Amino acid sequence: MALVPMRLILDEANKGKYGVGAFNVNNMEQLQAICGAAAETKSPVIIQVSRNALKYADKGLLSVMVRYMAEDKYPQVPMALHLDHGPDIETIKECVSLGFTSVMIDGSLDYGTKDDAGKHPARSFEDNVAITKEAVAIAHAAGVSVEGEIGTLGGIEDDTVAGAVHLTNPEEAEQFVKETGVDALALAIGTSHGAYKFPVGTEVKLALDIIDDVHKRVPDTALVMHGSSSVPKHMVDEVNKYGGQVPNAVGVPTAMIQDAIKRGMRKVNIDTDGRLAITAAIRKVFVEQPKAFDPRKYLGPAREAVREWMIQEMQAFGTAGHAGDYAPKTLDDMKRLYAG
Ligand code: G3H
Ligand code: 13P
Ligand code: ZN
Repeated sequence: MALVPMRLILDEANKGKYGVGAFNVNNMEQLQAICGAAAETKSPVIIQVSRNALKYADKGLLSVMVRYMAEDKYPQVPMALHLDHGPDIETIKECVSLGFTSVMIDGSLDYGTKDDAGKHPARSFEDNVAITKEAVAIAHAAGVSVEGEIGTLGGIEDDTVAGAVHLTNPEEAEQFVKETGVDALALAIGTSHGAYKFPVGTEVKLALDIIDDVHKRVPDTALVMHGSSSVPKHMVDEVNKYGGQVPNAVGVPTAMIQDAIKRGMRKVNIDTDGRLAITAAIRKVFVEQPKAFDPRKYLGPAREAVREWMIQEMQAFGTAGHAGDYAPKTLDDMKRLYAG
């Protein structure tokens, strides 16, 4: 089937009370692994591409491959193509014209400037609303779904908010959804991107009660959990065993993601786990088969490692078995819905 709007996939997940993985891709092997896992487990899936991935893959290459997967290779799998952390309106317009069926406008940060520490500063609530509204107007006119973000990602240690992290304020989240009309909303509940989410040896804590509160206030808006990689120990150990240096890596335990889904999280963003699976598999081949120099000899096992992990994720999030539950909707259907 054609790529479907992300809104359709998340509305159905909301009805069925399950989570859907949104997996970052940068190349063909990641895409094949994720789509293969979705087909095998009969799971709807969200393929997401960051601005850096767009650059890496010459902007249009990934969308062509994703369309091939949806239309030709796995027509039975509902698939959405989503821009992850869209930094500005120009990138939103670009992705809409490339055929993306969903975009995130990350209005929580001002990607146009950097502070003294070289970080993008947080935007005010008002500025976030303004840029998100602009993105919604452009995307919805084309039937494309929109994810916004309120609060900034980071870690929470005991009860103290660390650094420039701002957890989502549920009242503000409700106001944000009402003012912007976003389809999905990323919440800051204490997760962070990458492989080092929590200090090693400490209890992993997330502000899960924020999910309950926001879900009650805006039950039709799909809630999104960024920084959801579990950073599986066996992958990290394998990377380190074969010469890598990823010490003290800690992710979000799968049981905690399942708890978040029970409370109303619907889109679960995973990038780091895929990176670790690939790195572990490639390092192993390089050490065990030093004479190998055909990329298929190491990218093949890397692809298989990602596929195996994503199958487990799709089962753990409750997505498995839901691919055939509903009829597809087109962007034109969504255009009419948004207009009416
Ligand atoms: O949210 C961040 C994702 O992991 C994307 O990372 O910008 O390095 O592609 P990237
Ligand atoms: P991880 O770094 O935990 O995989 O998070 C990815 C993410 O949130 C992409 O938007
Ligand atoms: Zn993210």
